This record gives sequence, structure tokens and C-alpha cells, in this order.
Amino acid sequence: MRKTLIYCMLTGLFYSALSGESSLPIPPLLEGEEITLTVQQGTLALPFGDSDTLGYNGDYLGPTLRFSEGDSFNVLVDNTLNEDTTVHWHGMHIPAEFDGGPRQVVSAGGTWNPRFTIRQDAATLWYHPHLMGKTAEQVYRGLAGLIYIEDEFSRSLNIPREYGVNDIPLVLQDRRIDRDGRFRFAPAMADIMHGYTGNALLVNGAYKPELEIAGGTVRFRILNGSNSSIYRVRFSDGRKFTVIASDGGFLPETVSTDNLVLTSGERYEILVDLEKNEKVSLLTDIYGSDTHTAMTVDTDRSRPVLYEHPGRLRPFSIPGEETPAETRTFLMQTMGMMGFAINGKSMSMDRIDETIRLDTTEHWIVENRRTGMMAFPHSFHVHDVQFRILSLNGEAPPPLLSGPKDTILLYPGDTYRLALRFRDYEGIYMYHCHFLEHEDSGMMGQFEIIP
Ligand code: C2O
Ligand code: CU
Repeated sequence: MRKTLIYCMLTGLFYSALSGESSLPIPPLLEGEEITLTVQQGTLALPFGDSDTLGYNGDYLGPTLRFSEGDSFNVLVDNTLNEDTTVHWHGMHIPAEFDGGPRQVVSAGGTWNPRFTIRQDAATLWYHPHLMGKTAEQVYRGLAGLIYIEDEFSRSLNIPREYGVNDIPLVLQDRRIDRDGRFRFAPAMADIMHGYTGNALLVNGAYKPELEIAGGTVRFRILNGSNSSIYRVRFSDGRKFTVIASDGGFLPETVSTDNLVLTSGERYEILVDLEKNEKVSLLTDIYGSDTHTAMTVDTDRSRPVLYEHPGRLRPFSIPGEETPAETRTFLMQTMGMMGFAINGKSMSMDRIDETIRLDTTEHWIVENRRTGMMAFPHSFHVHDVQFRILSLNGEAPPPLLSGPKDTILLYPGDTYRLALRFRDYEGIYMYHCHFLEHEDSGMMGQFEIIP
């Protein structure tokens, strides 16, 4: 393997002139009633060197778990680490005791077995640790995986659905490769403020991999699995693609675009048409940083199987969204060096910040006010629900933000109005900024759903 590492004295970053030599890893697919996730230590070999990592059932990242609506979810988490962890099922409508937030610690050497019935629409979700103060580090070291939910509607659509063949998961993450060719989690104060941005972009744990595939229509399910980066994803030739789903499922109407912005934790599903025998790269611009070639897609000479891109998909509204039982405001605040808060408060496990009645619909106003020099983007994620964006800065949301969502990006000055419906389960859940360094610094709160 040819390695060309150039150490840049100015930035202290490594750049690699390596072109993609590995093929895109596809995480194993796990289905069925008895799934075990073993949390373990591992090693990830990249062209720069080997890093010490964590993974589920492997060295880095974890399997894709696939369920249908109505299935029972029954996953045994076996923590073989000598540190505590949790496993949070991001985007799932789930009983509070199985949410996997900071309240459900799986101790070092311990096990945990969440079990419930899946009651939500088809979507691409994901799982990752959520241990108080340790989320950023454990995710960074490799703990994350995807969850697919299918339902009657998703099965009725004529879209690519063959896992790893024409339905391809893409977990995008940036990692900071040190002088010694490894990545490790060691943020300085500025990294906590601005996010721990890396100099290498990984897709499914590989650096600039190549995806060799038959031409035709391909469905990509894209997760921004980074700690705190905002990505703009696009193709090197500027080609258009069709967006069919956002965080919590299908869009009411598909959107044709040539680029997509995702903050950490957000997902989109896209359809893209590839000719035979062509080569195109997927690029990722990191907000405030560089543009990376995430991977290259290489099609063979076989005859491409093209699918018609759908137009209208599934309408989305929240019951009672016009007449909220309660309206709450959440101010996302940068308080000065190292400090982050929501409504002036830093996360405390001993405090319930909001109390909500079961079976009600609420409006949540989420604001990232521009205050002096402390203007940072933030994001906002709510556990247990998929919400609808009623407005962004007073206007109807753009089509890409009109479907089911659980995570939103707030640039300085942004205000969202959300409609949320709390159904089925009582108990304590989290809301927080999904920039993991911010979350770990206290930018999180708890809500309790009561009868
Ligand atoms: Cu993806 Cu509360 O997390
Ligand atoms: Cu934040």
C-alpha cells in the first residue's frame, strides 16, 4: 500500500494523498427476535495507522438492526468494556425505561435487555451511547449503528430495498488523525466550543472507500454520525438526486436537489441514478472546515436497473397540532467559555425540567439567539417522538424539513416552532443539543410524561 503522508506544520494536521483503496464496508444486517449487541474494544486500521476503538459485535461501529412495525424489539446489550455505557435508540418511540439515555446505565461487565413492541413508521434510525458526560468520547471511539424500521407502506413502494446491493447505508464521520496516524478523543477547550472537527472523513469506518456497484437507481441512507460537525453532502459532478425520507420517515413529497445539509444525528434517504461504467465521488463539506471526498462510486458495465422516483409519499401531520395543550420555549445558550445551557440551566439528573401530560400535543419554540460574539450553531434533539416543524423563522418549513424529524439544526438567529405529540408511554426522557461536546457540557434537559 502506497502511503503519502504530508505533515503540515501550520495546521498540525495530516493530509493523505492516498486514493481510495478499500471497498466500502457494509455493516452486517441483524434481524429477528434475539439480537445481541456486544460492546467491545477493537482496533481500526486506516491508511494512516491503527487506532484503538470501540464497536458493537466488531472493532468499529455496529450491525444494522432491521425491524418491522409491530415487531417485538428484544436486544441484549452485553457490555464487555471495563467502563459503563448506555445504548440509546435515537429516533425510536420507546418506553422510557428502555430509552437508553443517561438514566439506563449498563455497567462495566453488565448486561441490559430492552423489550417492547415497535409502534412507529418506517424510518432510518440509529443507536449510540448516551452516558452522562461520556457520550462524545464513546461515540467518537466507534460506538454507533443503524436501525431500519419497515412497514406496510415502505414495502408497498417501488424503490430499491436490497440491503448492501441497491439500498446502501452511509455513516459519515470525521476523525482527527494525529501525528502518529491514530485518532483519539482529546478535545481542547476550543474543540468543545466549536466541536471536535477532524481532518479525515470516514464512511462506515473506512477512509475514501470505493463502492463498486451495478448502475441504476441506488438508495443511500445517510447518517451524519459525527460528534459535532455540520455536513453538506453532494456529488462531484453536481448531479441531482431525490430525497425521499428525513429522520423519522418518508417525506410528504420528495425533493430534487444537488446537495443536502445534515447536522450530527440527522438522517436522509436519497435515490440517485447511476449510468453504467461511470465514476462519481460523494463529497462532504464540513461547515467551518474543508471539503472531503467521502467515497467514490464505480459502476460496472451491466445494464442499469432504473426506478421511477416517487413524487408524493406519505402525508405528515401531528394530531391536534393547531391547538396545543401547552407552549414551551427552549433557549439554546452559549454562556461564555465552556458553558452551554438550555433556558439558563445546565443538565442535572436530579431535576425534571418539563412535565408533560400523556396524550397531549404541545408546541415547542426552540431558539438560538444571536447574542454578542458567542454565535454558535446548535442543534436540538428530542427523545421518544418524531415532531413536525410548523415554522422556521416565521415561515413555513422548506420541503426537506416537512417530514418527521427528531433533530434540527439551528444557526445563530434561528427560531423553530415544533408540534410534538406525547403518546403511549410515561416516564423521563431527554432533549438536548446533539453536538456531543455541547451535550456532555450540560446542554441537555429532562422531560417527564405523566398521566
Ligand atoms: Cu442521538 Cu439523546 O441522542
Ligand atoms: Cu450546541
